[in-house]
Amino acid sequence: MAKSMRIGLIGSQFMGRAHSNAWMSVGSFFDLPIEPVMQTVSDLPAEREHLTRFAARWRWHETSTNWRKMIEIGAIDLVDIVTPNHVHRECAVAALEAGKHVACEKPLAGTLDDAREMVKAAKKAKSSKTFVWYNYRRCPAVALAHQLVRQGRLGRIYHVRASYLQDWGGPETPLLWRFQGKKAGSGAHGDLNAHIIDMARFITGDEIAEVTGAIEETFIKERDLIETGGGEISGKGAKRSARKRKGRSTVDDCLLFLARFKGGAAASFEATRLATGNQNRNQVEINGEKGAIKFDFERMNELLWWDHTLESRLRGWSRIMCTTGGDHPYADAYWPPAHLIGYEHCFVSQAADMVKALAGRKPVVPLADFEDAYQTQRVLHAAIVAAREKRAVKMSEVK
Ligand SMILES: NC(=O)c1ccc[n+]([C@@H]2O[C@H](COP(=O)([O-])OP(=O)(O)OC[C@H]3O[C@@H](n4cnc5c(N)ncnc54)[C@H](O)[C@@H]3O)[C@@H](O)[C@H]2O)c1
Repeated sequence: MAKSMRIGLIGSQFMGRAHSNAWMSVGSFFDLPIEPVMQTVSDLPAEREHLTRFAARWRWHETSTNWRKMIEIGAIDLVDIVTPNHVHRECAVAALEAGKHVACEKPLAGTLDDAREMVKAAKKAKSSKTFVWYNYRRCPAVALAHQLVRQGRLGRIYHVRASYLQDWGGPETPLLWRFQGKKAGSGAHGDLNAHIIDMARFITGDEIAEVTGAIEETFIKERDLIETGGGEISGKGAKRSARKRKGRSTVDDCLLFLARFKGGAAASFEATRLATGNQNRNQVEINGEKGAIKFDFERMNELLWWDHTLESRLRGWSRIMCTTGGDHPYADAYWPPAHLIGYEHCFVSQAADMVKALAGRKPVVPLADFEDAYQTQRVLHAAIVAAREKRAVKMSEVK
C-alpha cells in the first residue's frame, strides 16, 4: 500500500479553501492509512499571483497555471476539482484517462450530457476511484439520520420535505459564473437542489421514481457585468465593468418541484437564492410511520427526532446534540460532547473517508461516486424538463 497520496487541486477560491483546509487538517483529526500530500494547486494563468499567495497560506508545495500539465507530468495520485461546473467534465475525464483518482465538487456537472461522459470515463478507468463532494452527508446529524432509517427507526416513509434557502442572489449580486447557464448549467437548482436531492436519497436509501411537477423562475433577468470575480459566493469585492454594463442571467433564481419516491413517499424540494431572511437554510424533514427527523444546517450539530412508538403523552421533538464520540458518526474525531463543529468539518470528514476508501476500508457512511452522483443529476434534469414542459416526468424517461 502506498504510504502517501499526492493531491492536485484545480481551482482556488471558495471550495479551494474548504478543500485545502480539509486536506491540511484531516491527518490531525483522523488516523489515516495513507498520508495525503498537498502537492500542487492549479488555476487559470490570470490567477498566477493569487495562486502564489494561496499556496503559501494553505501550504501547497507547488502551483501550476496549467491543470492539464499538472495531470500529465505532475506526480499526482488524486485530482480534486473545485472549478465552475462546465469545467468538471474536461478535468475529470483527463484525470481518469491518466489513471488518477478523482474527487469532484457537486453537482457532478452542469449538464446531464457532461455527467454521462464522466460516468463513462469512470467506468473505463478500472484502477481509479471517483468521489463527489456531497459534503452534507458528513454532518454528524445527517449521517445519524441515515443510520436511523437503515435501522428501521422511521418505518415506512410517508413524506420528504426538503428545502435549501439562501438570500444572497438579489439584484446587487453581479453576473458571476453562477448566473451563466453555459458555465453553471442551472442556477439555484444545480447548486442547492443538488444537495437536498442527494441528502434525501442518502437518508432514505430510496430513489425518486417521478418528478410530478415543477416551477422554475428567474426573477432578476439582468445583472452587472464584472471584470474580476471577487472570490465570494455573492461576488462581494468583484470589480464591475467600467461602463456599468449589464448582461442577461441565463439560470433560474429558484426551482421548486414535487416528486414521488419508489417506496411511495411524497416529496417536495425547493431551492432558491432569493429567500430573504434565510442565509444557508439547508433543511430536510422526513416523516415515517414510527418516527420523524428534522435537520437544519443553520443548527448543524442538532438532529430533531420524534419517536412515534412512544405512548402519545410522551411524544415530542427531541433535540439530539450529535457531538458524542462513539454514539454519533464522526464525533469521536473532534471534541468533547457539545463542543460544536462547523461547516469545514464535513469536508475534513469526507477527506478522511475518501482516504480510507482508497486504502480499501469502509467509510463511516457511504460516499457518493460518479455513478451515485449521476442519479442526482438525472433528477435535476427531470425537474428542469418538468418545469419547462409543464408535465410529470418519469425517471425511466431520463437515461
Ligand atoms: N459542496 C459545497 O457545499 C459547495 C459549495 C460551493 C460550491 N460548490 C461547488 O464547487 C465548485 C466551485 O465552486 P466555488 O464556489 O469554489 O467557485 P469559485 O468561483 O469560488 O472558484 C472557482 C475556481 O475555479 C477557477 N477556474 C475557473 N475556470 C477555470 C478553468 N477553466 N480551469 C481551471 N480553473 C478554473 C477559478 O479561477 C476559481 O479559482 C462548483 O462546482 C460548485 O458547485 C460546492
